[in-house]
Order: sequence, then C-alpha cells, then structure tokens
Amino acid sequence: MKKNILLGITGGIAVYKVLDVASKLRKLNYELNTIMTKNACEFVNPLSFQTITNNYVVTDTFERPKTWDVEHIALAKKADLMLIAPATANIIGKVANGIADDMLSTTIMATKCQVVFAPAMNTAMYENPIVQENIAYLKEKGYLFIEPDSGWLACGDLGAGKLPTPERITEYVVNCLENEESKGNLQTKDLEGKHFLISAGPTIEAIDPMRYITNHSSGKMGYAIAKEAARRGAEVILVSGATQLECPKGVLRIDVKSARDMYEAMHSKFDWADAVIKTAAVADYRPKDTSEHKIKKDNSKLVLELVPNPDILQSLGEKKTHQVLVGFAAETQNVIDYAKQKIEKKNLDFIVANNIATKGAGFKEDTNIATIIEKNGSITEYDKMYKSELGNVILDKVKDYL
Ligand code: PMT
Repeated sequence: MKKNILLGITGGIAVYKVLDVASKLRKLNYELNTIMTKNACEFVNPLSFQTITNNYVVTDTFERPKTWDVEHIALAKKADLMLIAPATANIIGKVANGIADDMLSTTIMATKCQVVFAPAMNTAMYENPIVQENIAYLKEKGYLFIEPDSGWLACGDLGAGKLPTPERITEYVVNCLENEESKGNLQTKDLEGKHFLISAGPTIEAIDPMRYITNHSSGKMGYAIAKEAARRGAEVILVSGATQLECPKGVLRIDVKSARDMYEAMHSKFDWADAVIKTAAVADYRPKDTSEHKIKKDNSKLVLELVPNPDILQSLGEKKTHQVLVGFAAETQNVIDYAKQKIEKKNLDFIVANNIATKGAGFKEDTNIATIIEKNGSITEYDKMYKSELGNVILDKVKDYL
C-alpha cells in the first residue's frame, strides 16, 4: 500500500519551494494530502497543491466536510508522516505550547505519526531564544527538525533560516519513512569509502628564527570542505598550514609550516587519495637562505633574495593516475583567464576561482564567491555563500568526477 504523507503548509515566502517537494514525493509514489493555513494561502493558491498532489487541499476547519469522517482526525490517522514546511515560528510556538486553534495545529495534536518540521524564517527570528527553546522542547518530545540552510534570505539578510533545498527535504522524508533506524538522519554517507586529501591555510617561509613570509589565509575554506567531506562519510586527511582552527571531527590533520613541508605531506598521501582539493595558499617564493640566528639591525639596507618554491599542485598533476584533482585560484584580476591557464598547466579536473579583492570572498571570510571552471570548458558562477555550502557544491562536483 502507498505510504501517506500529510503536508502542513504555513505562511512563509518559501511555500513555493514546497510545491517542488510535493512533486518529488509524488513521483516517488507517495500519496499526499495537504493542509494549508490561511496565511499559507496568501502565498500560493491551494489549487497548485491540489493539482500536484492530485488530492483535495484542506484549508479551514469549518468548511463543509468532503468526507463523512471528522477531517482532522481522519487525516491524522491516515498519515504515515507529517511534514510541516515551511514551518514558521508561529506553528512551532503553537505546537510547543499545546495550542490547537486551526486545522493544521489540531491535526498535529491529533496525529500519532512522526512529525517533521522544516523551519524557514528570518535569521533573527530563528535565533530568537524563544524559538530555539520551543524547538529544543519539541525535539525532546520526539518531533524531528530539518536544520535550515544558511544563505541569502528573501528579506535580504544573510544567515540561517533558509528552507532547505527540495532535494534535502525529500531525502529526509524518504529516509524517515523507509529507514526506521535513521529516523530522518540526514547524514547521508554518500562519500563513504572515498579518500580525500585536502590542503588548507597559509605556508610560512622563515627568514630567521623570528621572522617569516606568509599570507592572509585563515584555513576556513579548506577546513569547511574537510568537515563536510567527513560528515558525508569520506576518510579525510587535512594537510594544514598554521591556523587558529580546530581540527574537524573525524578528520586526520597533518600540520606543516613551509611549502616544502606541504609538498612532502601531500606527496606522501597522494597514492592513498581518490580526490585532492588544494585550497592552501602556498607561498610561491621563499628566502634563499634562512638565517640560523636573528638578523640584527645595522641601519643599512637589507636585501632578501627569494627563490621559487615547488609548485605542489603542478607536481601532483604530473603524477596523477586515478585522482580527481581540484585546485583553487586566488586572483584579483582576469580571474577566469588565469584560472583557465592553471587548469591546463596543473592538469586539474576543475578549479575554483575566487576574487580575493571582493568583499565576502577569499581570505578570512566565512563566505566565498566562486566560479567553477572545468577541464571541458564549462563555467559555473555561484552567488555568495557560506564556505561550508561551497564545500558541498565542490564535493558534489568531485563526486560526479569520481
Ligand atoms: O583560508 P581562507 O582564509 O578561508 O581563504 C581561502 C583562500 C582564499 C585561501 C582560498 O579560497 C584560495 O583561493 N586558495 C588558493 C590560494 C592560492 O594559492 O591560489 P593560487 O592561484 O596562487 O594557486 C593556484 C593553486 O595552486 C592553488 O590550489 C594552490 O594551492 C596551488 N599552489 C600554488 C603555488 C604553489 N607553489 N603550490 C601550489 O600547490
């Protein structure tokens, strides 16, 4: 028998995305019923859900019954799972406080099936301690929540509170319904069994025991990718220059200082790797000689002679066999042209170009603005997003190549 999903739609701009969720679930052969609050109907006409689900949409408790059953009890009994999406602060607050004053809240109260909330709201609302307490309370009572995404919100703010993508919601719901043990656990281990070698942070090139040459890399980009890869089940080795960051859970970190240390570490693990992602900002030059003792000031001009460091990525590209090889390109001008040249020179599968002179991109920021250029010439530009989000975009692409 077909499993039944009861959609509870509340009033938020993200309602239109739930039409896609409904369509995806229908294609997977689930039967869908829908309850829309009055506010939800302000955003999308119930007819849209009626058409996609091929079922009558309930919008008001006091409508003339379409069946002889008491409608909210009938829907509550019939459902194998209830998905509340988008879930506003209002519906979360109502349920947490036992309020049942309309068709949707009475049905949530009456059902014994698993209820999943997909919150979507402005970041400040989502982070409001009252909303967070209500969510914590409902989780304690066994309600499930799909973490909202972070990014640009309809109100123009940047932060958490975005309705997850229809793909993520659908995957979560299917997981809940078909995999009893996972109970909606979205930690899909789609990279399980794969070996990722990732480099992050700056290199430092010593002048003397006290001074060195380095750059502004914080390591955030590489750590974010390593964290996401581990979360998705990959085995991850992170070769890290000096950063202030904590090693992500489940990741093995090798600490290095100079470009030559990084060269050694990357080459020693290269055969093990299925994919290599090189976010590290490697110093192209180092002082020819490192003074054993502190260089003393004597008021005359000091000339430092610099010699080139090995190009780690290029050397990996020369030796590549089965590995997917991904580089980053940090540029301030002619970003795409320079990035394209690097793909060829370093034998990469694709490169992630970022203009480090743009606000919200590059060094130290929590966000990045990237363009992915592939060896077949395809170019995809991405909006500003959190480095963890970009990490998943990159990992999805690596997965295609794997
Ligand atoms: O660490 P964050 O603060 O989060 O900042 C992120 C970042 C800006 C460092 C990151 O997004 C980024 O752009 N990393 C690449 C920096 C860089 O060195 O770019 P590049 O265009 O100079 O080098 C191209 C590629 O060759 C890079 O993958 C680099 O790791 C690699 N390279 C460069 C020189 C060298 N001697 N050996 C290399 O392997």
